[in-house]
Amino acid sequence: MWGGRFAEGPAAVMREINASIPFDKRLWRQDIAGSLAHVKMLGDSGIVSAEDAAAISAGLERVATDYEANGVAEDLTLEDIHMQTEAKLADMIGPVAGRLHTARSRNDQVATDFRLWVRDAIDQADAALARFQQALLTRAEEHADSVMPGFTHLQSAQPVTLGHHLMAYHEMIARDRSRFVDARARANLCPLGSAALAGTGFPIDRESTARALGFDGPTRNSLDGVSDRDFAIEYLTAATQTALHLSRLAEEFILWASQPFGFVSLSDQWSTGSSIMPQKRNPDAAELVRGHSGRIMGCLTSLMVTMKGLPLAYSKDMQDDKPPVFEAHDLLGLSIAAMTGMVESATFRTPRMRAAAEAGFSTATDLADWLVREGGIPFREAHHITGSAVKRAEDLGVALDKVPLADLQAIDARIDERVYGVLSVDASVASRVSFGGTAPARVRAAIAAAREGS
Ligand code: ARG
Repeated sequence: MWGGRFAEGPAAVMREINASIPFDKRLWRQDIAGSLAHVKMLGDSGIVSAEDAAAISAGLERVATDYEANGVAEDLTLEDIHMQTEAKLADMIGPVAGRLHTARSRNDQVATDFRLWVRDAIDQADAALARFQQALLTRAEEHADSVMPGFTHLQSAQPVTLGHHLMAYHEMIARDRSRFVDARARANLCPLGSAALAGTGFPIDRESTARALGFDGPTRNSLDGVSDRDFAIEYLTAATQTALHLSRLAEEFILWASQPFGFVSLSDQWSTGSSIMPQKRNPDAAELVRGHSGRIMGCLTSLMVTMKGLPLAYSKDMQDDKPPVFEAHDLLGLSIAAMTGMVESATFRTPRMRAAAEAGFSTATDLADWLVREGGIPFREAHHITGSAVKRAEDLGVALDKVPLADLQAIDARIDERVYGVLSVDASVASRVSFGGTAPARVRAAIAAAREGS
């Protein structure tokens, strides 16, 4: 299609390094949609005749039908999806196909196609994350009262509820969704009509093509229009942040499913066996979600590094924008679906969680707080007294609320039997009623608010 000034064809490796059809064939729907909008505008503006525009539109519909039925061939001589489609159109309707590319370049064409594709990818991610949030809400509600150890430094810190823990992930995903929504708003401007880089002398109507493709309007600078890939980078940023959150939950599931923890049993559907050790139920899906997050981050890095040294406007390096975006999209879709399935079907072993919360002296802070409240003791001193109580419990091999009163009073005479009211893990979580706290009533309120908002 650009052979006019060439005497020789490209070397075989040149053809291969140049071709993007093996991966950009995924853009075929967007490419057809962009061309349909473009040719309608060419017809409406009188740049091509109404008759030619109608013939080209009908031909493009036939190309789409053919792609739908047979897929897109990977013909390296046709380089990319844009050339592939134009060649097919010419096969079908003859030389009039050559009028389609009037007032257009592959540079604005690919920028438009890719924005349309990323916009769809954003919508898919958002819908999948909404389903994931529903799963979190359902399980959080079920476990609004289930006590588990809360950790800092992965050491038992204070008791929390499993519902509260799951709602923490609901918060992260809410931020992720808002990042996707935000990225979509900036992505939703149409570069079509920027042409190769400088705009065009044909009397095109960029507003109408932008509107026809569901964009909010045309991009404002033709150089930026063809060379901007922020929309793809922002998509990958949101995807990376999401993957990072999924990876943290995956890591917790892996840890919790291990025998020493025993907090969760993943369903058969989300576990795999070992070919040598018959007892094994491995959390492979969670491990792969954790692994995929690294690859998604790599995709973001890849595109940022591709873009950082490019002068304006289009350079062929930019063809490498698509593989990382496609890869991240595929990995993210799998990761969200897998985590949703795992959350929906996991069996939380609440007696184990409760026992672990009770075993870790996790109500020590409650004892110190009680001494401050009831005994008027300064917190630092209360902290010290509590430390001695924990030591005593450890020596006796019992939980804090099982240390006899006489032992506690030997440490500090100001302690009386009312202290047992705050030493149980249930009393501890019930007391954390501050906004955003783990008290079951608070967790239920947070779930109700989340349901209201979604
Ligand atoms: N396949 C190219 C890409 O994906 C399309 C744009 C080609 N433009 C050009 N001037 N060679 O970036």
